[in-house]
Amino acid sequence: MRKRIIAGNWKMYKLSNQAADFAEQIKERITTSDKVEAVICPPALYVTDLLQRFETSAVKVGAQTMHDTDEGAFTGEISPAMLADLGVQYVILGHSERRQYFNETDETVNKKVVAAHKHHLVPIVCVGETLEQREAKETVSIVSAQVEKAFADVTAEQAKKSVIAYEPIWAIGTGKTATAEDANEVCGAIRHKIETIYSKEVADAIRIQYGGSVKPENIAELLSKDHIDGALVGGASLDPEAFVQLVEAGT
Ligand code: G3P
Repeated sequence: MRKRIIAGNWKMYKLSNQAADFAEQIKERITTSDKVEAVICPPALYVTDLLQRFETSAVKVGAQTMHDTDEGAFTGEISPAMLADLGVQYVILGHSERRQYFNETDETVNKKVVAAHKHHLVPIVCVGETLEQREAKETVSIVSAQVEKAFADVTAEQAKKSVIAYEPIWAIGTGKTATAEDANEVCGAIRHKIETIYSKEVADAIRIQYGGSVKPENIAELLSKDHIDGALVGGASLDPEAFVQLVEAGT
């Protein structure tokens, strides 16, 4: 039985006092559960503060991106070693916004996935197709290729601990959600891809999230599907009440 994972990707939103307020509002409402874990991925500047605020809470903290080497002359970057040193447990990698605006490619995402595992960070590896690709019926081949490239040189044990987020690009921040059936079908195809790369054991263990306009109103249906183990949530994760409801839907 896979433990569900609801992760909030705050992107570049909230000032420090708003981040602190959010944490104070949810920290006691989200309790340890065997069924679901809750992760907040704030802008990097707030990671330390949120780690402290969630110290006695079940909420975990993740990063939104990182560099692929331990240290070096890379102005502005944050290394996996730095995240691990602080106690960060998750890192979103290869988000479509990073691929679109910051030149991330399947190859750079793969380097980061390997580096995350080296530091025992759980990567949330994002894959997803554009609207044109969906209309051309290329969804499964596109996401399968993204998965295959992202997991090059990742061991079976590391793959088991990884999370994959299927985020159709056309559903991000648009209010358009893939139907639960469509999302499940693609998550199933991703699981099948993992089985062909590794084994059924790895495919059964890896957690696959759906992302793209997830909100309290549609989470239950998404989570009712066999291959959807959680959600990577943008907009709705900025609201403490909505985030608590999303996590509660996973219990
Ligand atoms: O990573 C989460 C994401 O891109 C989805 O954003 O606002 O559609 O939930 P949103």
